[in-house]
Amino acid sequence: MDQHIAEAIGRPDLIRLDDRLVCLRFETMKVVSALAAVRHLLDTGVVRRGDTLLDSSSGIYAYALALACHRYGMRCHIVGSTTVDDTLRTQLAVLGATLERMEPCSDLKLDQKRRVERVHEILAEHPGHHWMRQYHDDVHYLGYRAVADLIRGATDGAELTLVGGVGSGASTGALAHYLREDAPGTELVGVQPFGSVTFGAEHVADPEIIIAGIGSSIPFGNVRHASYDTLHWISFEAALSGSVDLLRRHAVFAGLSTGAGYLAARWERARSPRRTVLFVAADTGHRYVDSVYARHREAVPIGSLAPRQVAGRDGLALPWSRMDWNRADPPS
Ligand SMILES: Cc1ncc(COP(=O)(O)O)c(C=O)c1O
Repeated sequence: MDQHIAEAIGRPDLIRLDDRLVCLRFETMKVVSALAAVRHLLDTGVVRRGDTLLDSSSGIYAYALALACHRYGMRCHIVGSTTVDDTLRTQLAVLGATLERMEPCSDLKLDQKRRVERVHEILAEHPGHHWMRQYHDDVHYLGYRAVADLIRGATDGAELTLVGGVGSGASTGALAHYLREDAPGTELVGVQPFGSVTFGAEHVADPEIIIAGIGSSIPFGNVRHASYDTLHWISFEAALSGSVDLLRRHAVFAGLSTGAGYLAARWERARSPRRTVLFVAADTGHRYVDSVYARHREAVPIGSLAPRQVAGRDGLALPWSRMDWNRADPPS
C-alpha cells in the first residue's frame, strides 16, 4: 500500500493502444522525479526536513514539488508563470506551498528570464533556501529508474522506441538512459514545438499558442542532446488534431504535448515494423479543455498529416517536420 498520495500519482499506467503502440500515461508526470530528488537531497544531507525548496515552474513541476514537500515535511516556494491556473493555485495554497505568479508576459524568453531573476532575488534574501533547478540538476533523473523498470517488465524484451516531449529533458533523457543499460538499441525520439532553441528551431515561429511544458527559449543543462536519435517539431494545430484523435480513437484524455507525441509515435511505428513504440502522456486533458478540446471540430484526420523530412534546421517548416538527429551534440 502507498504511504502517501504522491506515490500513487507518480506511478504511470502502461496502456497498449495496438500491437506495437503503447501509451505511458501519467496523471501528473514529474511527481516521481520530484519525490526521488527530494529524497536524495535529504539522504545526502544537502537539505534537512523543514527547509524550503524553491523553483520556478509553469505548472506540473510546481504540483510535483509541492507533493514531494508535503510527503517529506519540507516547505515549498514556487515562482510561477501565468500558466499556473486557478485549480493548481488553490491546491498549492491548501497544500501549504507558496506561489508567486509573475505578471503576464507575451515574450517567453523574457518570462523565463524574469522568473530566474526572481529566484536569484529570493536566494539573496534567503540563502538557506534550496533551489531545485529542475532544468539543470540531474538529480531529477533518478525517479525515472523505477518507471524504466516498469516499462522493461511490461514490454517483455520488445525492441523499443521511446517518444516524448522535451522540456527540461529529464523524463525522456532519464528513461532512455535507464532503458539502454540493458537494451542499448532503445531509440529515443524527442518532440519539440516550433520556436524552441533546444534543438535549434528558434527561427520558425508557431502563430498559435505554445505547447505547455515542452521546448524552451533558453538552453537547459538537463537536455542530453546526444541521447536523441530523431526529432519531431510539431505545431499547435497538428498537436490539437493528435490530442483529439487520441481521445476519440483510444479514449485517452491527455494534454497537448501528448497529442504531439502520439502523432510522432504513430509515424515512427509505421516506419519501423519490428519496433514497439512507447509515447509519454505527461498530463491529463483537463487544463486543455478550452484551448484544445472545445476546438475539436478544427481537428483534421491525422492520416492526412505527415512530417516534412528535413536534413538540417534550415529546412524546418510548419506544421510538422522530422529530422534524424543521430545522437548529435547540441546545436551551436
Ligand atoms: C505537459 C508536459 N509535457 C511534457 C513535459 C516535458 O517533460 P521534461 O521536462 O521531463 O522534458 C512537460 C514538462 O514540464 C510538461 O509539462
